[in-house]
Amino acid sequence: MKFTTLFAPLALLAPTFASPIINASASADSPTIVDALTSVNQTTVKFGNVIVNWNGGLLGTVPVLAESTALLVTVKKGTSIAEHSEPLDNDGALAVAGTTQSLVASVNTTLTTLIEARPKFDKLLLTPIIVLNLKIQRDATADLSEAIIAKVPEALQAIAKNLVAPIDQSFATAIDAYEA
Ligand SMILES: *[C@@H]1O[C@H](CO)[C@@H](O)[C@H](O)[C@H]1NC(C)=O
Ligand SMILES: *[C@@H]1O[C@H](CO)[C@@H](O)[C@H](O)[C@H]1NC(C)=O
Ligand SMILES: *[C@@H]1O[C@H](CO)[C@@H](O)[C@H](O)[C@H]1NC(C)=O
Repeated sequence: MKFTTLFAPLALLAPTFASPIINASASADSPTIVDALTSVNQTTVKFGNVIVNWNGGLLGTVPVLAESTALLVTVKKGTSIAEHSEPLDNDGALAVAGTTQSLVASVNTTLTTLIEARPKFDKLLLTPIIVLNLKIQRDATADLSEAIIAKVPEALQAIAKNLVAPIDQSFATAIDAYEA
């Protein structure tokens, strides 16, 4: 059996099953946008580490794909948390800005690692699956950014957009590298 065939449904399924598990009704102990971004950051770093530690073997693709799916679920969950969150005040926006900068760096590192791993995916004919996953992840991340920016005070929204822009740029770079 071709491994690509095995993983294609997983990639396509991920966004579907990611959405309904979420119940982020806004209450005092609901996770905040900063909590959500911290989770996304942690999962991004974890995904990068799994790729670094992957020797290129077939079996090792299982944790790679699992961690990629975990990242997507975390991003979707973060979007729901942001959508249900109260609008941020200036202090809240500042806290989110700090976490976002951290995330920008993590996304850059992880996607740089992913780009470097391309020969391994090529060898297993999994490159198209990575491209597909990157595109799904890019869209999900854009939704997350949009949901967060909507909660930032209007006077700070332009700054917030600039702050998250490098994340989308990182995805563009990675997709270009995988489609080259
Ligand atoms: C969502 O969580 C809230 C608060 O924890 C709870 O009251 C509500 O019943 C939950 N809704 C669903 C659909 O699980
Ligand atoms: C994001 O992850 C990086 C790398 O592990 C870490 O240094 C940083 O403190 C994390 N930032 C946040 C806000 O969790
Ligand atoms: C990471 O950041 C560096 C420096 O800004 C940039 O040149 C590079 O294209 C970025 N890579 C990715 C994958 O975002």
